Amino acid sequence: MPSLAEVLKQSEDFLKSKGIAAAKLDAELLLSYLFRCNRLSLRLRLHDSMEEHLLPQLQQLLFRRGNREPLQYIVGEVDFYGLSIIVDRNVLIPRHETEELIDIIISHFGNRPIGSILDLGTGSGAIGLALAKHFPKANILAVDASQNALSTAQKNAIGNEITNIRFMVSDWLEGIDGTFDMIISNPPYLTDEEFENAQDEIKKFEPKSALVSQNNGLADIFKIIGTAGRSLTKDGILILETNGSQHESIASFAKNYFGKFESMRDLNDKNRFVFLQNPRNLVS
Ligand SMILES: C[S@@+](CC[C@H](N)C(=O)[O-])C[C@H]1O[C@@H](n2cnc3c(N)ncnc32)[C@H](O)[C@@H]1O
Repeated sequence: MPSLAEVLKQSEDFLKSKGIAAAKLDAELLLSYLFRCNRLSLRLRLHDSMEEHLLPQLQQLLFRRGNREPLQYIVGEVDFYGLSIIVDRNVLIPRHETEELIDIIISHFGNRPIGSILDLGTGSGAIGLALAKHFPKANILAVDASQNALSTAQKNAIGNEITNIRFMVSDWLEGIDGTFDMIISNPPYLTDEEFENAQDEIKKFEPKSALVSQNNGLADIFKIIGTAGRSLTKDGILILETNGSQHESIASFAKNYFGKFESMRDLNDKNRFVFLQNPRNLVS
């Protein structure tokens, strides 16, 4: 039997031949997944012989990755802000930019208490769960139009032992009662064209309904901005993750609904997040 080092090299070469950019890293991660160990332990075992009975499983994993299935769907989980988040094809794989948003929110609120948070389009539950963990006294309501996504989010709440969150099927704010100190959403905001031009990992495997919105990617953002005010407390804040190129249109649309618009950059120095305050359509 070949050594693990040889198998690793063959795996890397196979993934390279399929055009996978991070072929070495992905090969290491797939082998680590196969052996249920981390990359450091894998490296310490490289002189061991490969176990023959594991070869078909490895081939299957490599075939899936070679077919451009995202590594996160293959291994079935991802780390998000220190939480272990199950991901499957019903949910978007949480992005690093969204972790940055959690950082920004935490520094924005500092030690101020926060009572209630509404996470719109929760998907895997990543945002709602990270905030629920950081603000343990807050009550979080996390909604999504997809019941399948919510089933995964629910598993993530249980797996991470987070109890101050509940889940509900909803078309954005329709049927949501009460008011919230923070409404947060990373809604679909790609145009059809951007989706068609996206890499295969996204186009072939992630749910299109989580990514694409009509009206040049703005339809869902506008729907949320147009209806969120009545579900915010007086000092409440609406926070959105968006595409920076949309900020001018969003600022112009939001004038009718909010008194304060703030655009925030991500670590790549691109406009990415929108903070909206002073809702004009508060129900008093
Ligand atoms: C970009 S994903 C964000 C997922 C997750 N919040 C994250 O940041 O990783 C958008 C989410 O919005 C949900 N969604 C799409 N249309 C919706 C609607 N009309 N009402 C509620 N949720 C919706 C999708 O199912 C998807 O889970």
